[in-house]
Amino acid sequence: MTEAILLVGGQGTRLRPLTSHIPKPLLPVAGVPFLTHQLARAAAAGVTRIVFATSYLAELFEDEFGDGSRLGLELEYVVEETALGTGGAIRNATERLRSAPGEPVLVFNGDILSGVDLAALRDGHRASGADVTLHLKRVADPRAFGLVPTDAEGRVQAFLEKPQTPEEITTDQINAGCYVFTRSVLDRIPAGRVVSVERETFPELLASGAHVRGVVDDAYWLDLGTPAAFVQGSADLVRGEVASPALPGPVGDALVLPGAHVHPSAVLSGGTVVATGAVVGEGAVVEGSVLLAGAEIAARASVHRSVVGRRARVGEGCVLDSVVIGDAARVAEGNELPPGLRIACGAHLPAHGVRTSASPVPCAAQGIAHSGVPHASSAAH
Ligand code: GDD
Ligand code: MG
Repeated sequence: MTEAILLVGGQGTRLRPLTSHIPKPLLPVAGVPFLTHQLARAAAAGVTRIVFATSYLAELFEDEFGDGSRLGLELEYVVEETALGTGGAIRNATERLRSAPGEPVLVFNGDILSGVDLAALRDGHRASGADVTLHLKRVADPRAFGLVPTDAEGRVQAFLEKPQTPEEITTDQINAGCYVFTRSVLDRIPAGRVVSVERETFPELLASGAHVRGVVDDAYWLDLGTPAAFVQGSADLVRGEVASPALPGPVGDALVLPGAHVHPSAVLSGGTVVATGAVVGEGAVVEGSVLLAGAEIAARASVHRSVVGRRARVGEGCVLDSVVIGDAARVAEGNELPPGLRIACGAHLPAHGVRTSASPVPCAAQGIAHSGVPHASSAAH
């Protein structure tokens, strides 16, 4: 048996308003809740049992995946009443593991779309006798990640989470959010308090002389933490840039789910997803975008690299580029929305009604009925 712990307790703040009432790992990506792709890949790699470490909107995970039998997995859920941080969450979930002290346990962040070879990572860990193996990626801008320099043998030399100054950026290798721990190492993380695996556990393991290995590969990898990454990941799955056993249709330029209505003259491209009940009107153009269930794109609107929330409506002739429209929001005809704009759930934007403010406007949880307020916000992607 191979067991795993999945970290899914984060609030997904950078993806608001999409994550105001759906946790980030459950947002539909390429037609299914994002985690479905990751779980299917884990099952294909021989993982049999996964403990979910949940906190924010915890009950929604069990509602979606149940006991896991649909995916050929055994799933368990642990809930943190107050978030314990990544390390605290791992320690808490460790209580439910059945692996023996010397066995490898996979631990992964719940917001990563990755083509990493999980079986090879686990087998390499076992063969090396390491305490922990970290999957690493090379990225152009490592500032939003954990820096992980290694020596010629792949031994991790340091771990620096979210470097602040240019002097701190000594490598382009980052923590890819997927680890193999020897079970007994997990048992040594302090219980019952907030712990950051990145800021506390990894640096302490290095200081104590533990064998911490880093494995760099060229596989597909994306952290779906921002709206831009979210639409990119969905489009890449639809176009087959990264394989997923959970893709609910053939690889292609667009994925139109059953019960969606696309006018024959509309043009869909770039890995667009049109979810159940969504409507795309005459002459509309939708490129590299995610239209959630019941979204409506009116005639001749043009939507690029954007997310349109559930039951939201984009009026005739609107032009959207890199925009997030919250659930049930309405954008009146003729609006041209600038990149980075987010429209709150339930907001109504009248014709030529873009008004910007400094911070994103959150959705009211579930109650997406606040109407008539033309509030929009600009926020960096
Ligand atoms: N259960 C639980 N409790 N889960 C948590 C908690 C918590 O208190 N805090 C965060 N998580 C989960 C999130 O849901 C996510 O799946 C994962 O832990 C990582 O949290 P993020 O908030 O997404 O962190 P990040 O993206 O800024 O940085 C992390 O990932 C990078 C790779 O994408 C770090 O691990 C970096 O070192 C890494 O480079
Ligand atoms: Mg993340």
